[in-house]
Amino acid sequence: MIRSVVRGFGAALPKQVMSNRDLESRVDTTDEWIVQRTGIRQRYIAGEGETTASLGEAAARQALDRAGLTVADIDLIIVATSTPDNTFPATAVNIQHRLGMSHGFAFDVQAVCSGFVYAMTTADLYIRGGMAKRVLVIGAETFSRILDWSDRTTCVLFGDGAGALVLEGQQGTGAISDRGILASKLRSDGAHREKLYVDGGPSTTGTVGYLRMEGREVFKHAVSMITDVIEATFEATGTTADDIDWLVPHQANRRIIDASAKKLGIPLEKVVVTVDLHGNTSAASIPLALDTAAADGRIKKGDLVLIEAMGGGFTWGAVLLRW
Ligand code: UT7
Repeated sequence: MIRSVVRGFGAALPKQVMSNRDLESRVDTTDEWIVQRTGIRQRYIAGEGETTASLGEAAARQALDRAGLTVADIDLIIVATSTPDNTFPATAVNIQHRLGMSHGFAFDVQAVCSGFVYAMTTADLYIRGGMAKRVLVIGAETFSRILDWSDRTTCVLFGDGAGALVLEGQQGTGAISDRGILASKLRSDGAHREKLYVDGGPSTTGTVGYLRMEGREVFKHAVSMITDVIEATFEATGTTADDIDWLVPHQANRRIIDASAKKLGIPLEKVVVTVDLHGNTSAASIPLALDTAAADGRIKKGDLVLIEAMGGGFTWGAVLLRW
């Protein structure tokens, strides 16, 4: 059978860093509150000329370089984002053009913080279905542009950035010793759509709107939703928490990450945490964390890696892959 194998990884962050102390002068908050409640110490904020497409393009170029490939080798680009450069066309076609690619096809996936898990799963289905051999999967966001900078309950949590993977179809045996994506589980439930949403849009207000969140409500559901989809991938593959080399969670809150790992029985030494450095970068957080841990040598070829996310919608999901 065909498996979707990671050939390259890349990331890009805006130039400007914003620390918790910087935020103390903007809203009624403290470094201590932010660190204690979320684990976040700083985030990157896009400046003039930096957009979701420009960050996504930079991450994609690094992933192609690391894979030893060029855009000529890519059939499909999927961008996970909730902060597109324009309402349309898709940020994926913008990045396609920036990369100088005029063949193949490109589209966006919108599942907020779960976007990268949805995009990985979509890419895997295109590869295994035979419609694409190599796919650039990008998570890119500029959440700073949809934050209400007077709302301390949300503006301290999010940041900007992008990460990318090149997935390639390779022959596998069907066993879980194969490299590549081994199982995915996606879920959503729109009954929760008003707990984390943007209060504008083309078809309602005609404005872009600002992010609104009932943080405590999101927190309440996060751990059980995350652990449910992870257990489904264990069941589908006959694996257990003991088999996992690295858990690479969506980076929303250190407390959610720690509680999920504890409930699953995955020791914290096997959990990649970047929320302290990046804040919550929504669909970009998992590929940024993968890039960090693969570049510093923690994630190695052959390692069993579990990615998971939960966010607006609610959407949630998990992907189990061998690096
Ligand atoms: O990416 C996926 C989706 N997002 C998430 O996963 C986020 C999930 N939720 C969370 O991470 C947490 O709920 C938050 C970090 C957002 C909030 O932490 P919490 O422990 O749930 O705090 P809380 O909302 O219960 O607020 C506690 C107190 C409140 O004051 P009172 O009512 O107790 O007097 C807030 O007004 O903290 C206050 N507060 C703040 N204080 C200082 C809220 N934001 C701030 C702030 N600085 N930035």
